[in-house]
Amino acid sequence: EGDVFTFDPGFTSTAACESDITYIDGDKGELLYRGYPIDQLAENSHHLEVCFLLLYGELPTAAQMADFEARVTKHTMVHEQMHYFFRGFRRDSHPMATMVGVVGAMSAFYHDSTDVNDPWQREVAAIRLIAKLPTIAAMAFKYSVGQPFQYPRNNLDYASNFLHMCFAVPCEEYVVNPILSKALDRIMMLHADHEQNASTSTVRLAGSSGANPFACIAAGIACLWGPAHGGANQACLEMLREIGTVDRIPEYIARAKDKNSGFRLMGFGHRVYKNFDPRAKVMKESADEVLGLLGIENNPTLQVAKELERIALEDEFFVSRKLYPNVDFYSGIILDAMGFPTSMFTPIFALSRTVGWIAQWKEMIADPTQKIGRPRQLYIGAPRRDYQDVRHR
Ligand code: SDX
Repeated sequence: EGDVFTFDPGFTSTAACESDITYIDGDKGELLYRGYPIDQLAENSHHLEVCFLLLYGELPTAAQMADFEARVTKHTMVHEQMHYFFRGFRRDSHPMATMVGVVGAMSAFYHDSTDVNDPWQREVAAIRLIAKLPTIAAMAFKYSVGQPFQYPRNNLDYASNFLHMCFAVPCEEYVVNPILSKALDRIMMLHADHEQNASTSTVRLAGSSGANPFACIAAGIACLWGPAHGGANQACLEMLREIGTVDRIPEYIARAKDKNSGFRLMGFGHRVYKNFDPRAKVMKESADEVLGLLGIENNPTLQVAKELERIALEDEFFVSRKLYPNVDFYSGIILDAMGFPTSMFTPIFALSRTVGWIAQWKEMIADPTQKIGRPRQLYIGAPRRDYQDVRHR
């Protein structure tokens, strides 16, 4: 019989942690931020209020919200020298590559002032990251299109500021479309946190060694980039565009069902949800609302997405495997309608998820019992053996 491997019962790992931030019920398709259902927050709240909730555990009073918003606004500019980091990248670099590099470089500017054991310095790092990620993402976009960086505006709300930094140019007035800023703010809320997903687990594991929070968030951005995770929103829209028309959907459904094709429907399936991703439901309603308000409700990509969803949800292969649309299935359609290139979809996911990453990092660091993460393995390699001289091999 095979060897029996037993793990030390005292074995611990950050992969299994206690947290009171976000709750997911994959079978029911339920997502709660500090107990509040995601659809209620998407309907009634806004991203910075959700940031407060995720960081501090309760919805803010009006005074607390005003103070929090003022603190974030004050930190939206980046150190002027950080502009030089962008110059080192090729213009056609993917904005996620730039973000990994520049956010990691924040360690060089703020690391010396960040004692992770000091609660106040953890708080300042959290505010700096929530405030500066949109600025850095917008700078990555501007750099990629060869336009000058736009400074943040303190008179704009969080989502409007990001739209302004991305789409304003010095030669003319840019007026933020309230339809777009409301829809973008909703997308940010829907992406804010999601329990122990791959990138959050990466941030926790990096943070468990005592690494500074800027380096940990850079590690989370790197992990999020993958097409199986946050990179799926870009891959999904590119897939929908490649399908092009509803008559070509069966061809792609067949490929997705063929194990040897290596093709998967982007924006479909989830490690935890075996029912509808509640965020996908809100995102689908938002896509209808935004494209309708913009007068492009007949957008062919939206039509393909809806028909693809309908066909897949009637197909035994997907139904038996409980594969439903996830958060990435409709988000790209909305971001595309706003004028973002697909390469900016995952950076927007990253800046939205920054609050979740940093809230989970703070929770872990504040736990006096937390230890360095050290997942173990099941060794299936060669048994012990002696070295052989090359003449006898
Ligand atoms: C995110 O963890 C999180 O919370 C992540 C996230 C967050 O907010 O942080 O929710 C964000 O990452 C959402 C997921 C985005 N990724 C995609 O949309 C990429 C496409 N989806 C997949 O690659 C896949 O569904 C995963 C990666 C999301 C999950 O992969 P798993 O764990 O392998 O899926 P599974 O175990 O549930 O798969 C069961 C079966 C397998 O087939 P069988 O071996 O049983 O025959 O379903 C198949 C899979 O091959 N399958 C798919 C499929 N997803 C799973 N087949 C076709 N198309 C798909 N999309």
